[in-house]
Amino acid sequence: MKPVKIGILGLGTVGCGSVNVLTRNAAEIARRAGRQIEISMAAVRNLERPRICGTEGVRLTTDPFEVANDPDIEIILELMGGTELAREVVVQAISQGKHVVTANKALIATHGNELFALAQENGVMVAFEAAVAGGIPIIKAIREGLAANQIQWLAGIINGTGNFILTEMRDKGRAFGDVLKEAQELGYAEADPTFDVEGIDAAHKLTILASIAFGIPLQFDKAMTEGITKITAEDVSYAEELGYRIKHLGVARKTDAGVELRVHPTLIPERQLIANVDGVMNAVLVMGDAVGPTLYYGAGAGDEPTASAVVADTVDVVRALTSDPENRVPHLAFQPDALEDLPILPIDQVETAYYLRMAVEDKSGVLAEITRILGEQEISIEAFVQKDVTEEWTQVPIVLLTHKTKEGRMNRAISAIEALDCVYGSVMRIRMETLD
Ligand code: HSE
Repeated sequence: MKPVKIGILGLGTVGCGSVNVLTRNAAEIARRAGRQIEISMAAVRNLERPRICGTEGVRLTTDPFEVANDPDIEIILELMGGTELAREVVVQAISQGKHVVTANKALIATHGNELFALAQENGVMVAFEAAVAGGIPIIKAIREGLAANQIQWLAGIINGTGNFILTEMRDKGRAFGDVLKEAQELGYAEADPTFDVEGIDAAHKLTILASIAFGIPLQFDKAMTEGITKITAEDVSYAEELGYRIKHLGVARKTDAGVELRVHPTLIPERQLIANVDGVMNAVLVMGDAVGPTLYYGAGAGDEPTASAVVADTVDVVRALTSDPENRVPHLAFQPDALEDLPILPIDQVETAYYLRMAVEDKSGVLAEITRILGEQEISIEAFVQKDVTEEWTQVPIVLLTHKTKEGRMNRAISAIEALDCVYGSVMRIRMETLD
């Protein structure tokens, strides 16, 4: 059989990683796919730029539409990133009857509904395993491996850069900016690193996971997102003293009232396996009603780990080239006409436990004031710790752990506590999950 010709959009970290894996493992990949895969053309921004992959035999162009329009190319690997130009090129490729493999989580989270509908009309596939958790085959696991289950919730460390930063800060006491710079040099960070540290990248990925777990349309604009920039070394150390680790977690949960979709720093009991996922590694914990908890772990960023997912998708597409489009695995795991329009819960309706840290005046009656406010909001305290201070200080840091309550109640309690004369500055609030 003739080789399948593919075109690559973007030869950056992931694009070159994919070229290297496709080249090095060509024979093994062809044995799996049933056909040779030939990289016919690649679009790059700058023809002269040095790259970490060879491009012998590959036609290079600076025009991505030239690749999307080439009649010999059957599959496009969209590895250029961004949402606007990438969307236009992918729409063009699909309209030309080409299958698309993408690592672009922002593209899928924000334009996926439109792209999947267009792909459906044109009888082609849009594969996006590499968009979530790098090399971990989490899309396939949820979409196919767990297809028997009602997925109840999932929680994931799905941004390698953020996890790398939190881990280095905790283990080596390194400064935030210094670790971020290293993550950029290693090719983990997004082009705009605020996407990593403010949780936007994780929210893109969580949006995708929630859709395939619950059979709902992609709704990135409704995800609640809080970054890691306000976490202090004290919070990390107090959490450890209390038996917890702070992780930047994406949580999606199906409740009777709707779907929770939230990314935020989270205290997790240190006995949980996922609490021990460090460095650039990612992990996703998925709770199915039949299977119980399952945990998926691996490298969440980097050239070849991400290429592993890109190439696996490419093999899937090659295998499916001759299959009936009606009988393919649906993009969002559920048949397109069986997606449910469940509401995404506003954050003030979400219930979690909380870690609260505040600086208070060191005098009698302060704690009584704080507990009175929490009591008024029906918030129950699980633990209280007053930290030691040097003699000359009149302020003391206190840490409270609460039982579960609605975020709206906690917001009201925090506003009232911050208004007390005996409380200095603002209250640091970190949500807690037991993940049981
Ligand atoms: N910036 C992303 C991360 C890359 O750090 O996880 C992989 O999506």
